[in-house]
Amino acid sequence: MCGIFGYLGGRAASPLLLEGLRRLEYRGYDSAGIAILNSKITVNKCIGRVADLESIVPAELHGSIGIGHTRWATHGGVTDANAHPHMSEDGKIAIIHNGIIENSRALRRWLTAEGILLKSETDSEVIAHLIHRAVGDGLSPVNAVRRALRHTRGTWGLCALFAEERIIVCARNGSPLVVGIGDGESFISSDPQALSAHTQQVIFLEDGDMAVLSPSGVETCRLDGGSSDASVTTIDESWGEADMGDFPHFMLKEIHEQPESLRQCISGRILKSDGNGRLNGLDLTPKELQRIPHIRLLGCGTALHACQVGRLAIEQLARVPALAHVASEFRYNDPVIDSTALYFAVSQSGETADTLSAVKEIQLKGGQVMGVINVVGSSIARQCGRGVYIHSGPEQAVASTKAFTNMVAALTLFSVQIGRARTLSVAQGKKVVQALSKIPDQIERYLANQGPIEEAVEAVKDARHVLFLGRGPSAPVAREGALKLMEIAYIPCLAYPAGEMKHGPIALLEEGSPVVVIAPKDKFRQKTLSNVQECKARGAKIILIHEEGDDEFAEEADIAIAVPKTNGILSPLLTVIPLQLLAYHTGLALGCDVDKPRNLAKSVTVE
Ligand code: M6R
Repeated sequence: MCGIFGYLGGRAASPLLLEGLRRLEYRGYDSAGIAILNSKITVNKCIGRVADLESIVPAELHGSIGIGHTRWATHGGVTDANAHPHMSEDGKIAIIHNGIIENSRALRRWLTAEGILLKSETDSEVIAHLIHRAVGDGLSPVNAVRRALRHTRGTWGLCALFAEERIIVCARNGSPLVVGIGDGESFISSDPQALSAHTQQVIFLEDGDMAVLSPSGVETCRLDGGSSDASVTTIDESWGEADMGDFPHFMLKEIHEQPESLRQCISGRILKSDGNGRLNGLDLTPKELQRIPHIRLLGCGTALHACQVGRLAIEQLARVPALAHVASEFRYNDPVIDSTALYFAVSQSGETADTLSAVKEIQLKGGQVMGVINVVGSSIARQCGRGVYIHSGPEQAVASTKAFTNMVAALTLFSVQIGRARTLSVAQGKKVVQALSKIPDQIERYLANQGPIEEAVEAVKDARHVLFLGRGPSAPVAREGALKLMEIAYIPCLAYPAGEMKHGPIALLEEGSPVVVIAPKDKFRQKTLSNVQECKARGAKIILIHEEGDDEFAEEADIAIAVPKTNGILSPLLTVIPLQLLAYHTGLALGCDVDKPRNLAKSVTVE
């Protein structure tokens, strides 16, 4: 989604901004632009990639103060004019904005009536004009931004470059902003990852915070006029290091990183002799775990699918009622919040606006939310205060892969931990944690011998639609496989619990329709086998993900892909891998941009 990168210091700003924007590319965007201040502000912006922007930025664009933006269109089409930065009428203020101004239509009407010519269709441009009017009324840059934002409703990560004062004023409300403190220079970004090449000293702005970048340093304050609690923290250098190595795409690299990232996630968190898990970040005693009446897990997309696996693990291992919720729906359904229950917000980026809103709603109503998050220091992690980092390392491809397996692993460890505090025996706990500790090696073994993925690609790549089926923990895996194939290869996909297929989706099946079935050798296998027969009777082509050695089931399939055997509830950690590969190779075969699929963004920071 939209990205922000700004610089103020002694170096040439333009190459730094272009490099910063390049580091934000993985978030997904459709246009880009920069504003550089020399004797005046010069704006260059265009639709397309940062490379397209680079090609129109003149080499002799001097200036050591600037702001840059990658835009993911919300209000107004993908056009050069709608790309950011946007300027005030006198050309002395440039702004870039992430988020949505909800009352922009009214503001645009009012500004037009006041004689201002708006040059774009965006919601963001109004901010430049509102600030300009406030400056015209004699307000300082900070107070001008304050007044402008008091007139707006919505979310913002905002940077305003003031030509006369030679400063950048930033404000955050619902859209992340991080200040980077360098030696005689400062940076602003929507993503700490873009800063880590320059500095590890950062200030995460909170909602309602403002920051002023000037030649004398960085000052923070509050939008309402008070002082801010924001302080300098040190970020982990490794977050900036993600590159493709020897892989042609980030997605493939991240699929192959799963054994190692899983080891990072479970390391130090398994108590083998007690058959227990230990997630210190939750800070819950066995007594507290015993008292939890029910658990709710919230997430979007892939994180939601991890929640759906997690809730089954919690119910199975701890016998505590658990439900998974679509985070974007949660807040608006006026949920009943139980202050004694436990809520988990699950997110790779930790910035997903839908999930963050759900967290705030739960907290407002007195509930306790823990994060299950990848990005350290992200908004959701900080909002929750407590939780589990999944330690996947940077995930750059828009399609989430290694975060899914680590979310499932972390939630399984929690299930064991709460289970052991309640009714799960040492022996049962041991079985699960021992099986979990073997998964990284098993994924490695599978990746070394992936089975007939290319045949599966041939079966789905020209299909009008693909149906994914699974039961029990394989039902969310089916949904995850469908989501992956849909977002990477743009093939319409449908996922159903296998037993539900005969209640509707079966109508889609005709000669040759590809059906992907996830069926490890668990208690659901026999029933799934019956559903496979029902599909075959209608001419469907079965692509089966099954357990090694289950030849009887494999013989029923047109294409059979075997994964190593594991404990039932852990099977998603293995069965998902061939589905990730299927999506990747199908996307590639169809000539799609697998790392940056169209219309999608890596962190979805608007609701
Ligand atoms: O950063 P999050 O885990 O909160 O992101 C949630 C979804 O936006 C994300 O999983 C999305 O569905 C991915 N594109 C799936 O591959």
